[in-house]
Amino acid sequence: MTKLLVVYHSKTGGSRQMAEAAAKAAEAETPTTLLAAADAGPDDLLAADGYIFCAPENLAAIAGVMKDFFDRCYYPVLGRIEGRPYAQMVCAGSDGENAKRQTARIAQGWRLKEVQSAIIVCTHAQTPEETLAEKTIPEKELALCRDLGAAMGAGLSMGMF
Ligand SMILES: Cc1cc2nc3c(=O)[nH]c(=O)nc-3n(C[C@H](O)[C@H](O)[C@H](O)COP(=O)(O)O)c2cc1C
Repeated sequence: MTKLLVVYHSKTGGSRQMAEAAAKAAEAETPTTLLAAADAGPDDLLAADGYIFCAPENLAAIAGVMKDFFDRCYYPVLGRIEGRPYAQMVCAGSDGENAKRQTARIAQGWRLKEVQSAIIVCTHAQTPEETLAEKTIPEKELALCRDLGAAMGAGLSMGMF
């Protein structure tokens, strides 16, 4: 049976809510593992048939813990996961495009296949207080994450990718 891995990092809860929504919807379609980036490694990538990556944009880049996950895993799995499907979600205060670009570039290096357009959820956090506060992702945007997860799960279980 095909398996989906959802890897996320989150400091103030936004990306975690997005990843949980996607993983729960995917689980209804195919076995799905949800892992925090700090706890995920090469073996988790090798054990899965497809991936969803979800992280905040920090300082115009992928949040460091997520980048560390990619750094730790890049060479151990290089050439061993080629062609597998992936999608990504970014939680951002105002932009998110650079984090999206970086993840897409890493995935391209691994020769993963992007099977759904990236989702960027903007929390509109501007001030330091807003930025450091716990986030609540609105239902409308969680629904987009659920749709992405369900489509990944269904596509994997039906062998569409
Ligand atoms: C140190 C730091 C830097 C940030 N830099 C950016 C940025 O460059 N672009 C952006 O859109 N949001 C930026 N943000 C806002 C976060 O992306 C936003 O708060 C998001 O909700 C964090 O996701 P999380 O709730 O999963 O931790 C930054 C936040 C922090 C703490």
